[in-house]
Amino acid sequence: MQDDLTGRTALVTGGASGIGAAIARRWTAAGGSVVIGDVDDRRGAALAAELGPSAAYVHLDVTREEDYEAAFAHFEAPGAPDAFFANAGAVGATGRIEDHGRDAWDGTLELLLTGAFLGIKHAVRAMRPRGSGAIVCTGSVASVRGGLGPHAYTAAKHAVLGLVESVAVEIGPYGLRINCVAPGGTVSALSAGLASGDPDDLDAAHARLAAASSSGVPTTADDVARAALFLAGPGAARINGTRLVVDGGDDVLPARGRSYYL
Ligand SMILES: NC(=O)c1ccc[n+]([C@@H]2O[C@H](COP(=O)([O-])OP(=O)(O)OC[C@H]3O[C@@H](n4cnc5c(N)ncnc54)[C@H](O)[C@@H]3O)[C@@H](O)[C@H]2O)c1
Repeated sequence: MQDDLTGRTALVTGGASGIGAAIARRWTAAGGSVVIGDVDDRRGAALAAELGPSAAYVHLDVTREEDYEAAFAHFEAPGAPDAFFANAGAVGATGRIEDHGRDAWDGTLELLLTGAFLGIKHAVRAMRPRGSGAIVCTGSVASVRGGLGPHAYTAAKHAVLGLVESVAVEIGPYGLRINCVAPGGTVSALSAGLASGDPDDLDAAHARLAAASSSGVPTTADDVARAALFLAGPGAARINGTRLVVDGGDDVLPARGRSYYL
């Protein structure tokens, strides 16, 4: 069952596509209003137009602090969204560790870790005076286990979870919460690019992830959005500083395929 989000506001980064777009869709479908932040102006504006007056698009590069300042200024006094979803991301540097270039490494951490840090900083600044608000970072199964993603991606997503745990201790007493939703391979432009080289080929991502899943069912962006909205909502009122893995049990449960009693 979905919470009624009438009168509730949210900012979602990376909201033009995939998991972020699914969060924006779910949030507005439940009666809330959303600001979609992204660097893909064409897709972001098109999604906001499709969702109607309860959605707005702002250009928000998560590596630019001034973009966050402008995005948070979007919310009327007392000046804070009820929920902030730090979701923007990309695969970043790939390949063997010995071949990693410094620039690719730095760029991956800048996007995935510094981008989340800057958003968390400005969300807490905005939410703290009001004494309420929830932050949900999109981590990954690569936040909790090595070997599932590229090196820089895994390092950055582990660090995002560490930042979530650290910030939760500070902001709990302010009446704020922060958690991490940790998807496994999810059908989106990101996984389509990995599956076929074409980020628009969602069918290729669907087929690849279905074949890799023990259930034959791939995780969808909407599956992750529902978990993210749960973490942002009243049902998670006592949940702070943790991560919720959304992978059908495929990647993070260590006993997969090794149960001796089945
Ligand atoms: N798809 C998966 O398999 C998967 C698994 C685990 C975690 N994730 C994480 O989920 C999040 C969303 O990814 P997705 O799968 O929906 O991919 P996606 O490619 O569909 O969406 C990512 C969005 O982030 C935006 N973006 C990229 N750089 C940005 C920047 N500097 N500032 C603002 N926006 C930026 C892109 O324009 C795009 O709209 C990412 O953090 C990703 O690491 C994805």
